[in-house]
Amino acid sequence: MYARRIGDAWEALAPAKLNLYLDVLGRRPDGFHELETLLAPIRLYDRLVWHPHDIDGSAEFSFRYHPFSATTLVDQAPPDERNLVWRAVHSLAAAAGRPPHGSFVLTKRIPIQAGLGGGSSDAAAALVLANAAWNIGYSPARLSDLAAQLGSDVPFFMAGQTAVCRGRGERVAPVDSMPRLNVVVVAPREGISTAGAFRELDAPEWNPAEGRQGHTRLAQLLESLRRGSLTSAARWMTNALQAAATSLCPVVERLGTIFASLGCCAHQLTGSGSAYFGVMRSARHARRAAAVLASANLGAVFTTATCR
Ligand code: C5P
Repeated sequence: MYARRIGDAWEALAPAKLNLYLDVLGRRPDGFHELETLLAPIRLYDRLVWHPHDIDGSAEFSFRYHPFSATTLVDQAPPDERNLVWRAVHSLAAAAGRPPHGSFVLTKRIPIQAGLGGGSSDAAAALVLANAAWNIGYSPARLSDLAAQLGSDVPFFMAGQTAVCRGRGERVAPVDSMPRLNVVVVAPREGISTAGAFRELDAPEWNPAEGRQGHTRLAQLLESLRRGSLTSAARWMTNALQAAATSLCPVVERLGTIFASLGCCAHQLTGSGSAYFGVMRSARHARRAAAVLASANLGAVFTTATCR
C-alpha cells in the first residue's frame, strides 16, 4: 500500500481481498481463532484522500464518508471511533505524539460485512496516508505494528500483495509469482459479522478438527498457482468458514449453486462472507458469468481480477 501526492493533497487506494484458502486451526486463549489463510488483493478499491484543510478552511481533524453509489449496499460508516479509519488516524497521531489534522475523505465502494476486508484495507490506507501527509516517516514495520492493533487483516493490507497469513491473520508472509486471476464477486444485500461467523464455529455442533486441512493442502495450492494451473488450484481451494456462513446467511448456498453452473475453475466464500466469488477461465468468461449473476439479483456483482 502506498500514498500518492496530488498537489497539496494525498491519496491512497484501498483494495478489497479474497481468501483463496482459509483454514481454522483452533481457538486461542485470547478468544480469537488460529488461522492459516491465503489472501489476494483484488482490483476493487475504496479511495481515501487527505486534504490539509477542510471545506470550511479549518486544519483540524475531520473525517467524511461517501458511499460510492446506492448499489454498493453501503449506507453507514460512522465518522467516529467505531470507524477503523478514524481509529487508525488517531492511533498514528498518538504514537507520534501530535494531534491529527487535515480532512480525510473516504469514498466507499467495497461492500461491508462481506469478507472483502474493506474496513481493514481502509485502516491500512489511513496509516500510510497520514504517515505521508503528516511527514511522520515511520517505517513499514512500525506501521505494521500499529496495523495489527487495529484488526487481524490490517497488516496484510499494509504488505499490499498476495500473502499467506497466520496467527490471528496478522503474521504475514508475502508470496511471489502469483498469476493474475479473473474473478467475479457477488456481495449479497445481507452481510455477516466476522465475530458472528467465528462464534458459529465454537457452537458444539461444529468440530474444528473435522474441517482441518493441514499444511500440504496449502502448499499444493501455492504450487498449482505458481505453475498457473487453475484446474489443479481449484482442487486445493477451501474456506473453513463457509458452512458457518451458510447457516447465518442462506443466500450463500444459492450463490454456490449458481456459480457451480457457470463453469468456473473454482468458487467459494471469501473470509467470513457473505460475499462469494468464482475464479473464471478468462476475462471474457468472467464478464459473461457476471451478466448471469446480475440477472439472478442476489447482490452486487463485481467483475475484477487479483493484483498478485
Ligand atoms: O481482528 P478483527 O477485528 O477483524 O476481528 C473481528 C472479530 O472476528 C474478532 O473480534 C473475533 O471475534 C473474530 N476473529 C477470530 N479469529 C480471528 C480473527 C477474527 O475469532 N483470527
